[in-house]
Amino acid sequence: MVVSPVQDVLRRVWLLYLSSIVLIGFAAWGLYYQVKIIFDQNRLSELRETFSRTMVHDMKTPISSIITGIRMLRGGQFDSLPEKKQEIFDLVERENQHLLSLVNKVLTIAKMESGKLVLNRKQIALKPMVDELMEKYPLRSKKAVTFSVDVPDDAVVYADPSHLTECLSNLVENAEKYSGRTVHIAIAYAHDEAQTSIQVSDNGVGIPQSEQARIFEKFERASRANKRSTTGTGATGFGLGLNYVQLMMKEHGGSVTVSSEPGRGSTFTLTFPVPSET
Ligand SMILES: Nc1ncnc2c1ncn2[C@@H]1O[C@H](COP(=O)(O)OP(=O)(O)O)[C@@H](O)[C@H]1O
Ligand SMILES: [Mg+2]
Repeated sequence: MVVSPVQDVLRRVWLLYLSSIVLIGFAAWGLYYQVKIIFDQNRLSELRETFSRTMVHDMKTPISSIITGIRMLRGGQFDSLPEKKQEIFDLVERENQHLLSLVNKVLTIAKMESGKLVLNRKQIALKPMVDELMEKYPLRSKKAVTFSVDVPDDAVVYADPSHLTECLSNLVENAEKYSGRTVHIAIAYAHDEAQTSIQVSDNGVGIPQSEQARIFEKFERASRANKRSTTGTGATGFGLGLNYVQLMMKEHGGSVTVSSEPGRGSTFTLTFPVPSET
């Protein structure tokens, strides 16, 4: 086929146009990527800084309480006051538990991230686990905490028991922490052939829609979390609890979701698949 000079010029212009589009596309993508790396690095160092600051603060408080408690017990000033002595023993134990659970959380997250966590799943009776949580939390809290539980006696969940307890503890702890002085926590269970779910709801400060995805990220806290105001709780934390819960639910082949409205409380739902052989 004979190509006229005009057609040849048009074809060259078209090719030139196409290749410039491709080149501009690549350049824009490269530029975007560079800018993103810079932003990500800044964000990461910001997160690391926040993490070290809150981690040090959160670890300093229980360590100081433990040292003070042990000094008091050794000093003998409460030897004739067994009730007071018991109170101090309880405080030392509680603060140690707090530190241990923090360290365990950091270690378990690291294991999950490197794909090295081994689950020991079995059919767990949920009711006794929930009963234990209900006994523990009002004792730990300075607030008035009440529970309503809709979990049948024969409710079972196929999960790793120690990790399920830790996930529920994190949700109950958050429900208590991000609420006013009177806390109501509702725990409910539902199931069908394919999945079982556990809901933990509260009447707390709630989470704006725009922040609901972010709170599951590592070190992320909602904007109200730190504020001591009528809308915030001034509660301290690292932003690791929900990250732990989300990673753990993925390990179980399940999920965690949130539904919440500022000022109207929050509901977190854990969903576990039912194993086909049971
Ligand atoms: N039940 C809840 N009500 C309101 N806000 C919550 C609730 N649970 C979690 N959040 C928000 O999500 C953030 C992340 O939670 P989490 O990962 O447990 O970290 P931490 O409690 O250490 O801050 C919290 O800082 C808080 O802003
Ligand atoms: Mg938390």
